[in-house]
Amino acid sequence: MLVSAKEMLQKAKAGHYAVGQFNINNLEWTKAILTTAQELNSPVILGVSEGAGKYMTGYKTVVAMVKGMLEELKITVPVAIHLDHGSYEACHKCIEAGFSSIMFDGSHLPIEENVEKTKELVKICAEKGMSLEAEVGSIGGEEDGVVGMGECADPQECKRIADLGVDMLAAGIGNIHGVYPPNWKGLSFETLAAVQELTGAMPLVLHGGTGIPSDQIKKAIDLGVSKINVNTECQLAFAAATREYIEAGKDKQGKGFDPRKLLLPGTEAIKATVKEKMELFGSVGKA
Ligand code: G3H
Ligand code: ZN
Repeated sequence: MLVSAKEMLQKAKAGHYAVGQFNINNLEWTKAILTTAQELNSPVILGVSEGAGKYMTGYKTVVAMVKGMLEELKITVPVAIHLDHGSYEACHKCIEAGFSSIMFDGSHLPIEENVEKTKELVKICAEKGMSLEAEVGSIGGEEDGVVGMGECADPQECKRIADLGVDMLAAGIGNIHGVYPPNWKGLSFETLAAVQELTGAMPLVLHGGTGIPSDQIKKAIDLGVSKINVNTECQLAFAAATREYIEAGKDKQGKGFDPRKLLLPGTEAIKATVKEKMELFGSVGKA
């Protein structure tokens, strides 16, 4: 069932769990995530970065593929198609293409410009029944060409953006995209608590979900995080399982080179990763 992320995240915030956003790259990724969500009766958000959108030949293709799968796979759990770290231009393209949710990443803009553009998008999303995520501060590291410095968000700026009427807010709290370096200091729970204090019922978003230790994930959920984004971890799991298949020479046995066989171990590995995360985030059975 294609829905905006608004209601599922409000329910998550009230129920003290988080909904996973898993980024998609192709048919296998999408199918793995959707079937796992259905098996576990969990709501889910499919994240689409601008780069992945281009790779999949455009946002309209993404929407058509997801809608087709929802029908053919009989997916009844709530599913949102969400633009991840979108520019202002990409937000408009996704609104037109039929996404049910967008993230406007104005974190690199001067705050006044971030406010103005967010305001405009709040209005359009409300008219269209779509949900909108905004970002304050920045997520460190690089994801699909989006580079962040990793500075913690200013809680007052978070309140200002939250008050514009967005549906979810990503605040930089020392989180980083990709694999965390060994000298990473961990999440800033002080920042998160201050943001939560000022933004109240607003669902908060934790980016850079790959490799954050379970105790920090649980504490973040306790402090108001209701959406957690995971991308790199599925990619690593897919690559490792595919490498194992090829190194074992399975592609050379029988018709093991058939892409439907070759891509299967990686697809199963994505499913296992998504299952583990949904269990950790507490969204199982919450559809
Ligand atoms: O926006 C997507 C994410 O924040 C994913 O981060 O690749 O570190 O899991 P990750
Ligand atoms: Zn992110």
